[in-house]
Amino acid sequence: YVIGIDLGTGSVKGLVVNKKGTVVLEASEPYPLFHIKKGYSEQDPADWLHATETILKKLIAKMPELKEQLQGISFSGQMHSLVLLDEKQQPLRNAILWNDVRTTKQCEEITQKLGKRLVEKTKNLALEGFTLPKILWIKEHEPEIWAKAKSFLLPKDYLAFWLTGNQQMECSDAAGTLLLNVMDKQWDMEIAETFGIDRTLLPSLVSSLENIGTVNPVLAKELGLKTDVCVFAGGADNACAALGAGIVEENRGMCSIGTSGVFLSYEGEQEKDYQGKLHFFNHVIPNTYYSMGVTLAAGQSLTWFRETFAKEQTFEALVASSKNSTIGANGLLFTPYIMGERTPHVDSKIRGSFIGMDASHVISDFTRAVLEGITFSLKDSQVMMQTIAGKQFQEIVSVGGGAKSELWLQIQADIFNAKIVTLKTEQGPGLGAAMIAAVGVGWFATVKECAKQFVVYDKEYFPNEEAVASYQAVYELYREIYNQTKTLCH
Ligand code: XUL
Repeated sequence: YVIGIDLGTGSVKGLVVNKKGTVVLEASEPYPLFHIKKGYSEQDPADWLHATETILKKLIAKMPELKEQLQGISFSGQMHSLVLLDEKQQPLRNAILWNDVRTTKQCEEITQKLGKRLVEKTKNLALEGFTLPKILWIKEHEPEIWAKAKSFLLPKDYLAFWLTGNQQMECSDAAGTLLLNVMDKQWDMEIAETFGIDRTLLPSLVSSLENIGTVNPVLAKELGLKTDVCVFAGGADNACAALGAGIVEENRGMCSIGTSGVFLSYEGEQEKDYQGKLHFFNHVIPNTYYSMGVTLAAGQSLTWFRETFAKEQTFEALVASSKNSTIGANGLLFTPYIMGERTPHVDSKIRGSFIGMDASHVISDFTRAVLEGITFSLKDSQVMMQTIAGKQFQEIVSVGGGAKSELWLQIQADIFNAKIVTLKTEQGPGLGAAMIAAVGVGWFATVKECAKQFVVYDKEYFPNEEAVASYQAVYELYREIYNQTKTLCH
């Protein structure tokens, strides 16, 4: 067996997986988020460790054969969140999380000081969520803490350090710090020096599949595990989610609609010049990359809509009722910018809108417009991948809440003009982490081989030519709404 651990924002989840790729047991444990001020989002790294220890104990108690038969462990983790360590390698303060937005000023400083070189080196723009702005915020606001800092890690790397006693940072995650030269896979010393970050603070870098040690003897004894359980570095949650959905070859994309939405594409080994308009990060497959765009309020737009206007209906009933409307929602359009938008506009001030309301519109038109608007927003990312890098999507794997409705899956096929496939059982990033461990312990020669065995697809949805043409016309209008409403919001 191997275990994949996904250190998420709300909870940690552990999956026990066998050689066939079947998840035989799972456990999860929540931990709190602290929002001590508007825009702040923090967690106590000690909570991650306790929760992980708890799930490992639960899994082993339910499956005592793990004591003899567990071969490997690996991780997936929330990206960007900053864990600062002192000389005793203890956290100096709570971790500042990826969804904390206190760092607008620091982002402006980074953009202004590095200019074009920022995107050339890191392939990304300076956004509040990323790690470097958080480091600069600490330097400015908590100099006494900064003075004691001896190194920094990202959440799953901190967990790996606890489990093995070895400190390192894995590349697909380091890609989200704004300190990594993404193509060279090395720390960018020009950026580090520009912002007064000493070389000694930067942990050594490893690749996802690297064996970073074994479970430390004290913990192994406490858990009842053998001392030779190998631990592998793992990957960023988006990369692991992509791996768990089989996004390991050209022309494959993933559409994930959860609270936020992600449109992600495998990028192979070549550099792409998205000019920071999309994220471009190191994948967990050696030397490859993936690009992704983010819709901040995807499922959240639907949740907001239901809670505000249709509380008495279940999600399923509400979504299904939109079949009573038409393609293009009888002329009603919705933009899902209720929390601002990341891709393609990078605009925290823009807000959503319903355009074209008519006295004849009923609730099913509004619901349909919401589903279509969320999907159009993800199409914006797909279109950039197609126009800038010439990508063709033969198949898009749909995951998350958006994959739970047949109707919405067909809308995705028609709006993306691509075949949509779903997963037989959805395990998220934890499965990707388990796959890294499965390759690490030698069950498979490559990650791609492992994906062939572990990732099982279910249903397929094909674009309907007429619907594709109708949606294309509606999408042209949708795209105009941002430009027309921008001035009202700024
Ligand atoms: C990616 C991002 C989020 C986190 C969530 O840029 O900020 O998807 O990885 O854990």
